[in-house]
Amino acid sequence: YPEHYHEDIESVYIPHGIIMNRVERLAGYIMDDFADNNNIMVLCVLKGGYKFCADLVEFIKVLGRNSNKYLETRVEFIRLKSYLNDQSTEELQIIGSGDLSFLRGRLLMFFSLFFTCTKSVLIVEAIVDTGKTMKALLKHVETFEPKMVKVAGLLVKRVPNMAESLTDYVGFEIPNHFVVGYALDYNEYFRDLNHLCVISKTGKMKYKV
Ligand code: PRP
Ligand code: MG
Ligand code: MN
Repeated sequence: YPEHYHEDIESVYIPHGIIMNRVERLAGYIMDDFADNNNIMVLCVLKGGYKFCADLVEFIKVLGRNSNKYLETRVEFIRLKSYLNDQSTEELQIIGSGDLSFLRGRLLMFFSLFFTCTKSVLIVEAIVDTGKTMKALLKHVETFEPKMVKVAGLLVKRVPNMAESLTDYVGFEIPNHFVVGYALDYNEYFRDLNHLCVISKTGKMKYKV
């Protein structure tokens, strides 16, 4: 990892290569489940989800090309923020969102019968921790009445109650560590690491606000 983070990282938790293998596997499952759709919306949750989303969409493309079952992905972004230091705060902010109206589909007419062709959405999120962010987002997405909603979470915290049930495609189930890298941050630091890492005490102190 970059020299300037040296003391701030305790260990590499999941190396980049392992992440990529897993993302490819998830892309395969997604291709199977969305086989009835020729195009879907991929909704990337910023900022943490940007690398996972980019790699996932790339694998969906490669697998589609190799199998001749091409799944067209229309990528939209939504920016949600609630964390300060390593704590979820009360306030979840929707800082910005792309246009999700594609999900409602268009009104079609055949032989004077009307149909709406609603679209499916795949939400792509870095981590489902307390689940607060995902619960709020699912509520928001449902208002667009999509055909189907699935959630891909690269990481899911292994906690007694719930988060896993919000997530259809889980990259890795992890214990209660605060992890950074591969676009996940601690107060906006560490997103530029390729590996998922655990920060050290020094790191936490240094970048605390
Ligand atoms: C983090 C993470 C998820 C969310 C998960 O986002 O990227 O979106 O928190 O936490 P939860 O399940 O406890 O709600 P954050 O607020 O740090 O914004 P960021 O993605 O821009 O870093
Ligand atoms: Mg996030
Ligand atoms: Mn964050």
